[in-house]
Amino acid sequence: MRSITKDVFEVGAIDWDRKLFDEIIPLPDGTSYNAYLIKGSEKIALIDTVDPPKVDALITNLAEAGVEKIDYIIANHAEQDHSGSIPDVLGLYPEAKVVTNEKCKQMLIDLMGIDENKFIVIEDGQEVSLGNKTLKFIFTPWVHWPETMSTYLVEDKILFSCDFFGSHIAASELFVKDKPRVYESAKRYYAEIMMPFRGPIVKNLEKIKDLDIAIIAPSHGQLYDEPKFIIDAYKKWISDEVENKVVVAYVSMHGSTKKMVEYLVNKLIEKGIGVQQFDLVTADVGKLAIELVDAAGVVLASPTFLSGAHPAAAYAAFLVNALRPKIKYMAVIGSFGWGGRMVEQLKGMLTNNKAEILEPIIIKGEPKAENFGKLDELAEEIEKKHKEYKIL
Ligand code: FEO
Repeated sequence: MRSITKDVFEVGAIDWDRKLFDEIIPLPDGTSYNAYLIKGSEKIALIDTVDPPKVDALITNLAEAGVEKIDYIIANHAEQDHSGSIPDVLGLYPEAKVVTNEKCKQMLIDLMGIDENKFIVIEDGQEVSLGNKTLKFIFTPWVHWPETMSTYLVEDKILFSCDFFGSHIAASELFVKDKPRVYESAKRYYAEIMMPFRGPIVKNLEKIKDLDIAIIAPSHGQLYDEPKFIIDAYKKWISDEVENKVVVAYVSMHGSTKKMVEYLVNKLIEKGIGVQQFDLVTADVGKLAIELVDAAGVVLASPTFLSGAHPAAAYAAFLVNALRPKIKYMAVIGSFGWGGRMVEQLKGMLTNNKAEILEPIIIKGEPKAENFGKLDELAEEIEKKHKEYKIL
């Protein structure tokens, strides 16, 4: 249990050992499931719970806090890493009511079978009094599910934002100290689950802009006692601006595609264009996602595998399509031995994105002198675009 302000405590769990989230996202620094206890003069509220494997830590913290009753369990988000322990808490504190919005209520009933009579449904902007403290509910949908909301503790000026502004960091210090580390981690977090929802995030930031916020307390990672730090980072990430950077993601079986990639990357670097190159066989997809947040474009390189795209390249195309980065252009390059539909397959997987698809470069076998000319043209095309965007 860690104290935030008078009568406000963090009672969740630090997960130092977790390596993967959603069975896809690498967690180099572990994570935490923050839950918050607010002891009002008349009522006691718990904001969010923890991932079910960590429920013992939550229960221990509640016992340490001397909690004999909980009046309200605030569910800001139905996903199980925050709501999965609500049934256990209700078992220990049967008088508690689950306070949430209608969408979240339905999800909690669907996901964990919570009794309909246990809920108090609140509306956007509604307040609930704990006596000397007031909770105000602010609907912040699509960060990153449709039901997500934030809870503002009026007297203490704390915004409990759940996943919004979160980062996957396991840390003993409650508040952000190492800003560069947290920036990287929060950007990884944004890239992996928030990036597809840039539009709703614009609206949510607008919605909280006039709130007097002293502390942002997300449900993953550390708390921000300088909210501007993370709000400004989000503003940058959701803006339409891109950086002078190309993500080059490749897979190569016998070296031909890799030769094309190396040639192109060298040409881009010579032109002063920033490059992030990833071998898709070994790449950390979280790092790849981070680079997609502000890259101007993506070059996807693949050999032809069983007459189509290599599965590693297809995986990357699927990921880019799902994450919907603000990239302005994409290109597919690669080699083939005896034919195939690699380009059509990859292009067919990139339907979500509005990025311009540049002329593909597919060569037979190992790249030769005449093929390098095509790669020169692609480098020139990319240079031209970066100049047009005024990032070079
Ligand atoms: Fe941290 Fe969407 O749950």
